[in-house]
Amino acid sequence: MNVCDIVKERRSVRSYKKEPVPKEKLERILEAARNAPSAANRQPVCFYVIKDEKVKKQLKEAYNEEWFYTAPVIIGVCSIPEVSWKRGDGKNYADIDAAIAMDHLILAATEEGLATCWVAAFKVSVVKSVLNLPSGIEPVALTPLGYPDTIPEPTFRKPLKELIKYI
Ligand SMILES: Cc1cc2nc3c(=O)[nH]c(=O)nc-3n(C[C@H](O)[C@H](O)[C@H](O)COP(=O)(O)O)c2cc1C
Repeated sequence: MNVCDIVKERRSVRSYKKEPVPKEKLERILEAARNAPSAANRQPVCFYVIKDEKVKKQLKEAYNEEWFYTAPVIIGVCSIPEVSWKRGDGKNYADIDAAIAMDHLILAATEEGLATCWVAAFKVSVVKSVLNLPSGIEPVALTPLGYPDTIPEPTFRKPLKELIKYI
């Protein structure tokens, strides 16, 4: 599949098979995230790979959706705002860099035949405490990772003509 096919193939999957994620696939997915670009190449990101059932149970206090825990792996993408590039007007690019890494990760997962669902609606303080994040590390996104059980239909996108202005 080329990258445009992968982009079209990706879905937010909310139902997973128990089947484990092969180590080589997980490594290729994390490698794609590692290779993401970042502002001024500061690479202010890190990844938490969660397989421990005890930790997953504790995470329910941060994000209490049963489907989320049907996947064998959960990945947390974090930013390190002290390390990231800041624009002249003070804007911190940490979360943007983390989001790019997350996007690389979910597209690489799609290529591997695995599914993901970007989740942002978690309680940040609980995630920090459950993952024992050192101070200065901010959880930006979580995703389950596993083989999809049910693959949803594509969701609506605005037509390009609504989004583009040629000037
Ligand atoms: C930044 C971001 C945050 C999201 N947070 C959540 C979330 O907390 N819970 C959830 O179920 N889906 C979440 N989603 C998934 C979106 O709902 C989903 O991408 C959107 O509805 C389009 O569907 P699709 O991904 O299948 O194309 C999030 C997606 C993005 C990009």
